[in-house]
Amino acid sequence: MTGSRTVTIPSAEAMERLGEGLAAALAPGDWIALTGPLGAGKTTLVRGLARGLGYRGRVASPTFTLVHLYRGRLPLYHLDLYRLEGEEALRDVVDPAEMEASGAVVVEWADRAPGWIPAGALWLELAPLPAGEGRRVTARAQGPRAARLLDTLPGKDGGWH
Ligand SMILES: Nc1ncnc2c1ncn2[C@@H]1O[C@H](COP(=O)(O)OP(=O)(O)O)[C@@H](O)[C@H]1O
Ligand SMILES: [Mg+2]
Repeated sequence: MTGSRTVTIPSAEAMERLGEGLAAALAPGDWIALTGPLGAGKTTLVRGLARGLGYRGRVASPTFTLVHLYRGRLPLYHLDLYRLEGEEALRDVVDPAEMEASGAVVVEWADRAPGWIPAGALWLELAPLPAGEGRRVTARAQGPRAARLLDTLPGKDGGWH
């Protein structure tokens, strides 16, 4: 079963709130896969996730280290695959089983390693709208875990099929 939902997010503050809303529903083992060009708002959404989990420190893309860990209500692993040189490079650095055993995982540029992302991930595609109009976020869920997260999102229901 696959579901989708589309929502317009008018500002960076609203993008952070979207993340905070998702964080309230986040459980260990959840994966969120983010796509969209540079400047789309991916890190802003992750900041909202971390804040929503009660993490008060700095949230920035782990561009050189590949993964950051934010300790809130539950651990949030933040990956950014922008500079990834092939999926093999991931295997040496991060262990999905270890991350999902205790925490939730959010991945920027998830489309750089689609085969590495678990099938149950919630995919969020962020698309810039014309200047001043914010961003369009399209959510796609496959399976019960992602469906539960999808149901917490506002926006136009693309239905289930
Ligand atoms: N929904 C939004 N509407 C307008 N500006 C946004 C929105 N979300 C984020 N931004 C702004 O876009 C810029 C890029 O955001 P960032 O999260 O760094 O993007 P990415 O991680 O996708 O490269 C930042 O200045 C941020 O404040
Ligand atoms: Mg980023």
